[in-house]
Amino acid sequence: MILLTGASGFLGQHIYKTFRPVYPILGLGHSGSNCDRKLDLSDLKALKDLLDELKPDTVIHSAALRDPDECLRRPEMAKALHIDATRVMAEWCRDNNKRLVLISTDYVFNGKNPPYSETSEPDPVNLYGETKLAGELAAKVCPDLLIARQSLQYGTTDRPELSFIHKAIKLLKEGRQLEFDNVQMRFPSLSSDVAKALLELEKRHYTGLIHMSNPKGITRYQMYRAIADAFGFDPDMIKDTGKPPQLSASRPADCRFDLTLYMSLGLPPFHSFEEGLAMIRDEVKASL
Ligand SMILES: NC(=O)c1ccc[n+]([C@@H]2O[C@H](COP(=O)([O-])OP(=O)(O)OC[C@H]3O[C@@H](n4cnc5c(N)ncnc54)[C@H](OP(=O)(O)O)[C@@H]3O)[C@@H](O)[C@H]2O)c1
Repeated sequence: MILLTGASGFLGQHIYKTFRPVYPILGLGHSGSNCDRKLDLSDLKALKDLLDELKPDTVIHSAALRDPDECLRRPEMAKALHIDATRVMAEWCRDNNKRLVLISTDYVFNGKNPPYSETSEPDPVNLYGETKLAGELAAKVCPDLLIARQSLQYGTTDRPELSFIHKAIKLLKEGRQLEFDNVQMRFPSLSSDVAKALLELEKRHYTGLIHMSNPKGITRYQMYRAIADAFGFDPDMIKDTGKPPQLSASRPADCRFDLTLYMSLGLPPFHSFEEGLAMIRDEVKASL
């Protein structure tokens, strides 16, 4: 039996749907309604009690504050979710001979010298990356551990408020011109691709650290032009700010992964952003 935290989240929904036909799975959420059970993971006693009650064979910890700006606004919650809750899960798994899968991020790197392999030295530039990295270290008390680092997620969702694609289309429909930086490289990865790769790793009981993403980099400006094009809007509604991203928390410039390990394992290939947009277009349109 698998216990999945963050099951109501953007990636969590895809993991839940992909794993459910194969493994018994219980999806934990917090405020979202699309989950089997709700728990505030910053309540560490309640988390430990839940683990003792359910005794899962594998815990997948996907819940997070994944917006670096929100981490600045809510540093205590970022630390609780990314570090303290991870430590409780890792210690419980260690003490009960169970498996932990921790979903982490490319933002553990500073983005100055890509590509980053699993042996590259992390050096986060914001609190989100710092706390996620500290969570990785806390997880290491568990011997049966997989840490899967991810890059930017996109795809279908029944929670459009969590999706940058859904939000962009809404604004484009209103006829708004949008401005984005053409500087920071992103590696948008279809969450259904990620979930399939995680399922394969689960079947193999793979342990260690692995990087996974769409290999092709693209800036926000290019991404939103591609979205406009795919959804029938004029790509010229998207403008280049001519500046690096102006956001509260610093962003690493280019966290491209070295995907040699991923490829060597024969794991499912990632779709390009353009292929992914074509695959999700009808479902996204229907959900708007
Ligand atoms: N999304 C990305 O672009 C991206 C990129 C790289 C890595 N990642 C990593 O991928 C993982 C999944 O991210 P995501 O995209 O699914 O994030 P998300 O859409 O923002 O979802 C976050 C999840 O965390 C849950 N959560 C938040 N606060 C909680 C609390 N106090 N107690 C319990 N649960 C809480 C949310 O529950 P409710 O919604 O029910 O409140 C939700 O299920 C994260 O570990 C993130 O670091 C994501």
